[in-house]
Amino acid sequence: MNSKNEEGRSASNATPAAAPCAIVIFGATGDLTARKLIPAIYNLTRDGVLPRSTVVIGFARRPKTDEQFRQEVLDGVIKFSRSRPVEPAVWNDLSSRIFYHQSTFEDAAGYRSLAQRLTKLDQTHGLGGRRLYYLSTSPVEFGTIVDQLLETGLGNFDPFNQAAWRRIIVEKPFGRDLQTARDLNTHINRAFDESQVYRIDHYLGKQTVQNLMVFRFANGIFEPIWNRRYVDHVQITVGETIGVEGRGGYFETAGTLRDMVQNHLMQLLALVAMEPPVALDGDAIRDEKLRVLRSIPLFGGKDVAERTIRGQYTPGQVNGQPVIGYLQERGVHPDSTIETYAAVKLFINNWRWHGVPFYLRSGKLMKRQGSEVNIHFNSAPGVLFNAQANRVSRNVLTLRIQPGEGISLLINAKRPGTATKIAPVHMDFEYHETFGSYSPEAYERLLLDAILGDSTLFIRRDEVESSWAIIDGIEQGWEQGLSPLTRYEPGTWGPVEADALLAQDGRLWDALGSNDRDKGPQ
Ligand code: BG6
Repeated sequence: MNSKNEEGRSASNATPAAAPCAIVIFGATGDLTARKLIPAIYNLTRDGVLPRSTVVIGFARRPKTDEQFRQEVLDGVIKFSRSRPVEPAVWNDLSSRIFYHQSTFEDAAGYRSLAQRLTKLDQTHGLGGRRLYYLSTSPVEFGTIVDQLLETGLGNFDPFNQAAWRRIIVEKPFGRDLQTARDLNTHINRAFDESQVYRIDHYLGKQTVQNLMVFRFANGIFEPIWNRRYVDHVQITVGETIGVEGRGGYFETAGTLRDMVQNHLMQLLALVAMEPPVALDGDAIRDEKLRVLRSIPLFGGKDVAERTIRGQYTPGQVNGQPVIGYLQERGVHPDSTIETYAAVKLFINNWRWHGVPFYLRSGKLMKRQGSEVNIHFNSAPGVLFNAQANRVSRNVLTLRIQPGEGISLLINAKRPGTATKIAPVHMDFEYHETFGSYSPEAYERLLLDAILGDSTLFIRRDEVESSWAIIDGIEQGWEQGLSPLTRYEPGTWGPVEADALLAQDGRLWDALGSNDRDKGPQ
């Protein structure tokens, strides 16, 4: 695999000016375009980051005029844009550069006419042959589109004219196991060199996820204690208060392990556990993340039985409102055993982390919404405050990814009074308070980086495959019934079996939201 970044660009640079290009969105009538992609392009344009000659072409099956497409995506911007109200001058200018291209994904003629259209736009808008293809279709179409791009030469770029770059962004899900991910990679790499491929994990577009590296490597005090000598265990939680929300058909092919753990949680884990990279460029960082993933021993049957939990939500109530169970969701088989909750205990077999458990969990319809990493440090020796032992907490560093973005450290402090009474308190940093509310959306950062040719925040082929290798072991064990499906009530922290996973190690799950930690799990 050629993993050399096309133009060797680096994440550490200040944002350089983006050159105008054509962004071709395949599957442009889907939800993602209206909810995320066009609002992101609108905000990048509004903030003056994207040049005012950038062109967007929506490629999809349904017949539609440019005008109709513009109106549809405007509705999306009005509803979902980070900045509101929409500024008419910015929108009018941008929308005059948004076009619709109607074709099925199989029809070669549709790609030939796309090529002609792009050549014309190159001339009228000075795009210099730069093209960003965005695969926002169902994954079953990825192969067909890539083949057609190969056939029509739309993916080719001239190595002697690197300014006329061609890049492709691939949305998730990237495969559903190691084999399908490998096949897809091979397929894509027939048409596009690895340096042209940008696999999305939108978690990497979040500011707080990017801050994980800054926090670890720009502060000298944490690195010496960031290892098995000082860390008792690590918890990573991504909880959602929504169910599958009409995506039952997709969820039936995935489940939480594939939908959330394989990508978002594994990426968080890799960033928390990795060694300092030798440089801040895309390959150096991804090399280190890859080493973490490779150091996780694959799950055998016994590990699956002892260290994984899968759950599915039943009908119930959330905030006093009735909610249906997973089995009643549209598109879900009435006997489905697909999980909407997964918890996994894993180890990283390297010098830094040997023997330190990492507990990962994610679920739908949980008690609270939030993504958090909690580093639990070893307890202080209980020699001085023995009488108070039950009141002395471990120091816990909480990295709040969302909401309430920030960092907090749980420490013990003396309660005011004549007696020595100890209470856990939090030292808190909140993004919002410190830096105000400006925070670009994940898709803004990711689209911009792809246009700038910076692949640092995208997943490399070897990363995606290593992560699938871990997930495959668990999925295979689940298929053999080694960890039977459990049920949980909506609005709880998931199945009670998941509490037992930690209880057997003498530990408790963290309650999301650091200020509740001292009350224990709820
Ligand atoms: C997506 C999953 O990748 O991430 C969804 O497919 C999930 O099921 C979503 O809801 C969560 O993203 P976020 O940014 O809201 O935490």
